[in-house]
Amino acid sequence: MNIPLHVAIIMDGNGRWASIQEKKRIYGHYIGSLVIDKIASKAKKLGVKYLTLYAFSTENWKRPKSEVNFLMSLLAIQIRKKINFMMRENIKFNYLGDIAKLPQKQQEAILESKEKTKNNHELTLNLAINYGSYMEILQACKKMCAEYYSTKSIVNEPNEQLFEHYLYTKGMPNVDLLIRTGGEKRISNFLLWQIAYAEIIFLDKYWPEFNEDDFEDCTKEFGERKRRFGGIDD
Ligand code: FPP
Repeated sequence: MNIPLHVAIIMDGNGRWASIQEKKRIYGHYIGSLVIDKIASKAKKLGVKYLTLYAFSTENWKRPKSEVNFLMSLLAIQIRKKINFMMRENIKFNYLGDIAKLPQKQQEAILESKEKTKNNHELTLNLAINYGSYMEILQACKKMCAEYYSTKSIVNEPNEQLFEHYLYTKGMPNVDLLIRTGGEKRISNFLLWQIAYAEIIFLDKYWPEFNEDDFEDCTKEFGERKRRFGGIDD
């Protein structure tokens, strides 16, 4: 079967799922954070090499302060808690986004997790935290142009390959499959460059109820799709 090398997921629907259970939105985020382990294990078993999850966007700061604070505590606690799991499963942790804007405790948890799992190699788990594509692309443009204009060297001449070198996903393949749970059909400023030729699956299920079988079904659907990358079939 044709397995996607890089899968990205917009984990949407935590709040609505919690409301249906007559619980607070934050309960949905908590349950959602537990789903990650099951999906990462399954992804690894299926042969996926990169799993990129949208945990907190540059726009999520607009949420009520209490929800932002809860998400921040959850991130620090769960990222630390997941270190044992990632060591057992040979999963390397990585982050995408501007973590310098996060509180100290969150930055420490992220960096500790990255450091402790750096030699693992079966799956790379990227968490997008304080991530937004507009920001990522703008920063990449600025850095690429600054280097080009300061050196005027032919090796720094802007092109697609060089541009990718300045993205958070440097050295990783572009996204093959993008999944969004929660029923909305939009991209929400996530990996706009990297999903140029991704296959996209929108699911009505809310993230807290998404499971290993759903993930496997998505990879099967991916395997059945014909990817032409702008060309035509042989
Ligand atoms: C979208 O659901 C989800 C988020 C903005 C946060 C996703 C975060 C997690 C799943 C937990 C993160 C924890 C770790 C350790 C990575 P929503 O709140 O927009 O739901 P709604 O659309 O139903 O309101």
